[in-house]
Amino acid sequence: MKKILITGGAGFIGSHLVHLMVRKYPNYHIYNLDKLTYAGNLENLKDIEKESNYTFIKGDIVDENFINELFAEHNFDGLIHLAAESHVDRSIHSPLEFIYTNIVGTVNLLNAARNTWKEDMGNKRFYHVSTDEVYGSLGETGAFVETTPYDPHSPYSASKASSDHLVRAYHDTYGLNIVISNCSNNYGPYQFPEKLIPLFINNILHNRPLPVYGKGINVRDWLYVEDHVKAIDLIYHQGRKGETYNIGGNNEWKNIDLIHQLIAITDELLQRPKGTSTQLITFVSDRKGHDLRYAIDASKIKNELGWQPSVQFDEGFRTTVKWYLDNEDWLKNVTSGNYQKYYEEMYSNR
Ligand code: NAD
Ligand code: TYD
Repeated sequence: MKKILITGGAGFIGSHLVHLMVRKYPNYHIYNLDKLTYAGNLENLKDIEKESNYTFIKGDIVDENFINELFAEHNFDGLIHLAAESHVDRSIHSPLEFIYTNIVGTVNLLNAARNTWKEDMGNKRFYHVSTDEVYGSLGETGAFVETTPYDPHSPYSASKASSDHLVRAYHDTYGLNIVISNCSNNYGPYQFPEKLIPLFINNILHNRPLPVYGKGINVRDWLYVEDHVKAIDLIYHQGRKGETYNIGGNNEWKNIDLIHQLIAITDELLQRPKGTSTQLITFVSDRKGHDLRYAIDASKIKNELGWQPSVQFDEGFRTTVKWYLDNEDWLKNVTSGNYQKYYEEMYSNR
């Protein structure tokens, strides 16, 4: 039985990946290592927690001794690393946690893999999951390719860029069998309601203002989370050693257009008269260093591995809105605790 370690498996994308791997590969044992920060939630994994090929481990990737002991104990066959501090606004507010988890945590994993795997290093896989935000901001045209120079602007993207460079350095220097993917914005169930889509659904539900940064003209390329985890599965198994793959939805939306679409679907599902929640739109001061546009050229993964998005945006978006409305308890649970404090700090003076 192969032993695969997934880090950050209780978060948004990680929980979808854990589901896929546990169900699709009964001959793999999936170890999910997660610190359970505000963004990690074991409720996301309730339906697979008793599977015999699944084990949850609570722990912090920043804790070097713990990581070394974990690797020594298990001799994993591979690792898919998603654990991260992932929200740009939080990184602007308090960058240090991003440096610890995203950079130091990644180096701890790299060192543990290198030291444990030794001569067998070429056969074991170290897969680092990253973001398109490392490439910086595009103008009106063009798209990021794998060779686009890095130009991160937020503490979040700078910390992810740094970790990407370190992962490549461990390939070039020590021969570690790495792959990296850089994906565009994901949407879908189980995303913490600090990110645009679940935050706005939750606010519409409670008739709270919808804080649109700047003029709402920034553009993001949205991909359904299930499509992302299918790409991760493919890259983990078939991606070439040392390579980077861009993953994207080929689905660009200006924020304000996406928000109008979101309002239309949410109002319809809540059986409110058409356009009711449009009045909640509130333009607030812009995010500092706000990247104007992201877009991914995903032709490499399409040509090499045959991946392309399978979920149409209309369908994925409606499914997503419906999921949050049907799972109000999940929303309530994750927004209890420190959420109120977070929300006030982030939005009270905008
Ligand atoms: P998330 O914030 O929902 O989940 C992150 C998970 O990591 C949480 O379960 C959290 O508890 C865990 N974690 C945080 N710090 C940890 C630590 N020190 N030790 C162990 N676990 C820790 O994030 P997400 O949106 O699921 O993103 C997952 C990965 O994908 C990240 O690396 C992110 O950079 C990348 N990514 C995200 C997107 C997106 O749109 N969400 C797009 C491209 C890439
Ligand atoms: P977000 O979901 O935070 O993802 P990212 O910053 O990683 O792209 O934000 C998506 C877009 O929505 C981004 O352009 C910022 C904008 N935004 C708002 O206008 N208001 C908000 O309250 C949030 C959270 C984001």
